Amino acid sequence: MSDEALINKINRLKKEKNAIMLAHNYQRPEIYQVADFIGDSLELSKEAAKTDADMIVFCGVDFMAESAKILSPDKKVLIPVRDAQCPMAGMVTRNELLDLKKKHPNAAVVSYVNTSAETKAESDICCTSSNCVQVVNSLPEKEIIFVPDENLAKYVQSKSSKKIIPWKGFCYVHSKITAAQVKEAKNLHPEAKVLVHPECPLDVIGLADYVCSTSQMLYYAREDEAEEFIIITEHGMVERLKLELPDKRFYAIVATCIQQKKNTLPAVLRSIQEEVYPVEIDENIIKRARVALDRMLEVSSKSSGK
Ligand code: 13P
Ligand code: SF4
Repeated sequence: MSDEALINKINRLKKEKNAIMLAHNYQRPEIYQVADFIGDSLELSKEAAKTDADMIVFCGVDFMAESAKILSPDKKVLIPVRDAQCPMAGMVTRNELLDLKKKHPNAAVVSYVNTSAETKAESDICCTSSNCVQVVNSLPEKEIIFVPDENLAKYVQSKSSKKIIPWKGFCYVHSKITAAQVKEAKNLHPEAKVLVHPECPLDVIGLADYVCSTSQMLYYAREDEAEEFIIITEHGMVERLKLELPDKRFYAIVATCIQQKKNTLPAVLRSIQEEVYPVEIDENIIKRARVALDRMLEVSSKSSGK
């Protein structure tokens, strides 16, 4: 079946089933064409929390679809490809976190949304790349256990006077990006501004004009007077930027998240047709994880006024 036929069929089924399609920025460009909303982790959580659709088809990775289920437990949340799983989200387990909490009884636990529902359930609050510093600084505790991304923890530490207790998790896509690669890109495009995702190593972050989440890259590039940007994150982000800002130029470093790219149009069609794969989380875990996600949304809304 052609992409056009697949897109038409998916769109028809979405209407019939009162479904919405949420897609992360790193998705393939053809997935954008069936998405009702494209965004970063925080924006997607907000959309999932407020939708009145009966069904959410989530094109992203497991922890994002799980967050949607936690925030909209009465809806059917589908993930089209079962093994579209973020490896970093599996790098800290509930038991490992409980051990760490025992060692630091006075510390608050901030978990990056890239964690399992079980880990969120043991956390005081979640954060995303767009609000990590703000979330940490909003807490009364002076010590913060920050899981699982060590690079993100180091970035937060550079922006906060609190004592950050990191974990040894990493994103295999962002942690491999080197300062030498960014310097080379800057030499090739000296006029371009450098936008860096905070899952990158600290020396890469040090070369940034702006450190931000995926969607914040879009908003920055839209508002800024520069015509060219070097985008330091998963390279699919450039497709979103080109789509939204066709008159500006974007350069990427090759860095691919294989798990995000597992979602394809045929998989999405099958997902909505056969209603696979439903995200299922224990009710008790949902209740406890929701507290951590809701607290994050509250902190975020205070600063954005939304
Ligand atoms: P954003 O929240 O910035 O979209 O990041 C999600 C992610 O998985 C980055 O690797
Ligand atoms: Fe996970 Fe990294 Fe892929 Fe983001 S880019 S989903 S953190 S593996």
